[in-house]
Order: sequence, then structure tokens, then C-alpha cells
Amino acid sequence: MSDPDIRKGLAGVVVDTTAISKVNPDTNSLLYRGYPVQELAATQPFEAVAYLLWNGELPTADQLAALRATERQHRALAANVKTAIDLVPLDAHPMDEIRTAASLLGASDATGSGSVLDASGTPEQNLERSIRLFAALPAIVAYGQRRRRGEDIVAPRDDLDYSANFLWMTFGTEPDPVVVDAFNRSMILYAEHSFNASTFTARVITSTLSDLYSAVVGAIGALKGPLHGGANEAVLHIFDEIGEAANVNAWLDTALAEKRKIMGFGHRVYKHGDSRVPTMKAALDSLVEHYDRPEVLALYTRLSDEFVARKGIYPNLDYPSGPAYNLIGFDTLTFTPLFVASRVTGWTAHIMEQAASNALIRPLSAYDGVPERHIAV
Ligand code: SDX
Repeated sequence: MSDPDIRKGLAGVVVDTTAISKVNPDTNSLLYRGYPVQELAATQPFEAVAYLLWNGELPTADQLAALRATERQHRALAANVKTAIDLVPLDAHPMDEIRTAASLLGASDATGSGSVLDASGTPEQNLERSIRLFAALPAIVAYGQRRRRGEDIVAPRDDLDYSANFLWMTFGTEPDPVVVDAFNRSMILYAEHSFNASTFTARVITSTLSDLYSAVVGAIGALKGPLHGGANEAVLHIFDEIGEAANVNAWLDTALAEKRKIMGFGHRVYKHGDSRVPTMKAALDSLVEHYDRPEVLALYTRLSDEFVARKGIYPNLDYPSGPAYNLIGFDTLTFTPLFVASRVTGWTAHIMEQAASNALIRPLSAYDGVPERHIAV
């Protein structure tokens, strides 16, 4: 195999079809089952978008009510999951808590990982497992932040829908509609993005006929990396390093001289800007106004204007979502777990799609080690 055949990082390689989403860098657009993500973020509750990703159509009022009823049944933090999370050292990364919790949810699910032969489960079982994970993750993420702060668990409230209840369980205060709307938009924008690294990881695991929970645990591991999901957390570390807008130029001089990757910028597919950024930026603007924090926007704008001017590399979704989550009050370490709570809908949609049209994913490699040799006898 000659070098030109090798496509490191599978860059630009189309490995399969998907009907779940379409990322189009030429038109800078993102469609979930044919709907522009901007329209979904402006009009739908996150529960409806989860339904759309799993089922291919937006839910009727009755279908949405049924999903919401099921989601409410699985919201509370299960005792065994709390016990498992409590075994994770407080100074471990919260993504380790999430990964552990997802694994235990699988192991303890009566229809869970099952025997080797039927691990992959039926489509009905996998949809049920998807909804269960979707419902259970907010309490797991919320508990992770509260335990690190030394705060008690806040029980879910059935009078609140998904996004409002997520904020309630995290902060224990009545969520403001402006904040609920911005948070809901972020969950929709993070939900799905074709064959990104964590989703493709989930598809590889599914392709061996392994179970849905194992595929989600693998995806969580992939998302933890700062080149992927961990970038939104890294954006806040950069903001903390810079401090204020006036320091941007000097900070960038040093960072670029050190050849640092500026987190929250660049993308493997989008090369002229991430289609989701304008919608998330509008949500950030609403939060800046709500909390009266103009200095956050000044730093955000100065850094992005300066970096784009110098390198022609544009912000991705993690750039506006980091400061938005910070304004809402999430700890920086909680940012990537929030990404998990959203992307579990896209991951499970892809797991079900992969399971339906299964082909073992197993690429080739070109050997470049030492030539064949033999042990002297
Ligand atoms: C997500 O795939 C998805 O869809 C992911 C995602 C999703 O929804 O699932 O959109 C979510 O992961 C968004 C990306 C979050 N990651 C970051 O913000 C980390 C910083 N970004 C970079 O690491 C980088 O832009 C990547 C990894 C995102 C994409 O990199 P590519 O496509 O492999 O491009 P590259 O690394 O080869 O960069 C090309 C050039 C390089 O310079 P040279 O070596 O050619 O001189 O651009 C430079 C890079 O050094 N570059 C950057 C940069 N991004 C690219 N330089 C500084 N800072 C950056 N952020």
C-alpha cells in the first residue's frame, strides 16, 4: 500500500452513509433528519429533538407527552449509581464519573449488556435504553457538580421539563426562563454532528454486535479529549489565563509563538466557521444581558476577532458554549459532562442505525516496522 492511500485521522474519508444528520461545510449548514439545526434550536424543546434523532420525525403532541412521561420515570439518581459515583475520587475528572455511571447503568439494566449473543439487543430494547440514558444523565451530571461543592442532592421536579429540571437539580434554585431557553438551545446544538470522533467510536463498538451501553462508554472516553469534547472546558481555562480583553494581543503573541492550539477554534469539517456558532452566540448574548456581564462579551469578541484575523481559523461550537455555561454557573469541569448529556441522543441514534445495517468496522494498516526476521536457534 503506497503512502497516498493512507488517510491519517480518516480526514476526508467517507466510510458509510447516515440518515441522521448532514454536515455541509460548503453551505455551512447542519441538518438533523432534514431540519436546519437553527430552526430546531429556535422552536423545539430538547426532548422533541431527541425524539427526532431517534425516530426520524418530530413527535406529535401525544408522542412528546409519552416521551416526557417516560423521561420523568428515569430522572432520579439511582442508589447504586450514586454509590458508584461516590467511589470516584473527588479530584478525578467528572468525565470519569459519567463513564463509570454509564457503565453501571448498562450492567444493572435488566435488558442491558445481556449475553454475548444478544448483547446488541432489539431495536425496541435499544430505544428504551437510549431514553433511559437520556433521562438519567442530568441527575448524574448535577450530582457530580454538587458533590464536588459539598452540596446535597436535589431531587428532580415533575413539574419541570427536561432543561428546566436539569438546571433545578444542578443549582437547587428556580430556573429563569431566559437561562432555560439558552441552555435548551445549547443541548440541541450539541446533540448530533455526523461521524465525529466519539460518534464514530460508538459505531465501531456497535459494529462488533456489542451492547449500546458499551458503545456509549467508549464514546464518553473519546469525547473527554481536549481536541473534541474537552475543548469547551479548555476555552474557559484560556479566558482565565487572559483575564480581560486588553490582554488578548500579548497572550496570543505568546501562545502562537509556543505553537499552542487555541481551544474553541478550528474544525476538521468546517473550514469557514461552524454552522452552530451564530445560534450559540445569540444564546450567549442573551445570558450576557441577563447577568449584566459585558466584560465577558468584550473578551470573547476581542479574542475571536484577533485570532481569525491572524490565522483565518474560526470559532467552533465550544467557543461560545464555554462562557455561556460559565455565566449560568456550571463549574468548568462540568462543561464536557453537559456535552455528554446532549450528545447521548446523537450517539444512541447512530448506534441504532449502525446495528440495523451492520458491517464490522475494521480498516487496514500499512506496516512500516522492521522487515521479517527470525529467532536464531
Ligand atoms: C468538536 O468532528 C466534530 O464534528 C467535532 C464537534 C462535534 O460536534 O462533535 O464539532 C465538536 O470537537 C469541535 C472541535 C473542538 N476542538 C478544539 O477546539 C481544539 C482546537 N482545535 C484544533 O485542535 C483543530 O482545529 C481540530 C482538531 C478541531 C481540527 O483539526 P484538523 O482538521 O485536524 O486540522 P489540523 O489540526 O491539521 O490544523 C490545520 C492547521 C495546523 O497548522 P499546521 O500544522 O498546518 O501549520 O491549522 C492549525 C494546525 O496547527 N490549527 C490550529 C487550530 N486548529 C487548527 N492552530 C491553533 N489553534 C487551533 N485551534
